[in-house]
Amino acid sequence: MRRVQTAVLISGNGSNLQAIIDAAQASDYPAEIALVLSNKAQAYGLTRAENAGITTIVIPHGNYATREAFDQMMDAALRNHDIELVVMAGFMRILSDRFVNGWAGRLINIHPSLLPKYKGLDTHARAIASGDAEHGATVHWVTPELDSGEIILQGSTPILANDTPESLKARVHLLEHQLYPAALKHVAAAILAQ
Ligand code: GRF
Repeated sequence: MRRVQTAVLISGNGSNLQAIIDAAQASDYPAEIALVLSNKAQAYGLTRAENAGITTIVIPHGNYATREAFDQMMDAALRNHDIELVVMAGFMRILSDRFVNGWAGRLINIHPSLLPKYKGLDTHARAIASGDAEHGATVHWVTPELDSGEIILQGSTPILANDTPESLKARVHLLEHQLYPAALKHVAAAILAQ
């Protein structure tokens, strides 16, 4: 079976990356994680990728004078590895419009909120402060406007009376580990069917 050649972009721990690597072990999973790219050399996700025998690349963003120059290096690395689909999993850089447009329909992200609520940072604290009954995570297409692309999959969890931003974050993270492999499976299957 042909599998969609997929890259995962990370900056840190990579627990979502791990969930995706684990799911992609299944023989009928439509995506192969062919490359993990990090803008930080110390990202633990790189160790996770190496443990799974996946090629890793580090492109330190500080080495580039502009966002566009950094993005161009990433773009070249992805294309050199024949990547068809790019998955952002805790990648803490804003991408230039040029990069995003170059990967239109081939670039997805996970955001820890029930979008369109709470775009940007500190979503868990903001949901609690607003008195929301529930919070969650969203997998969405990436478009130039931050956290605003079309929703692919969303999951929610109740906000409990004694929740802190940390306890809520931990629960949403577990949800993310279910959602992201499922969303990637759906997107990759659709690409294979094109
Ligand atoms: C997740 O909460 C994700 O929603 C956000 O960054 C975090 C990454 O966590 N975009 P991890 O590195 O996958 O553990």
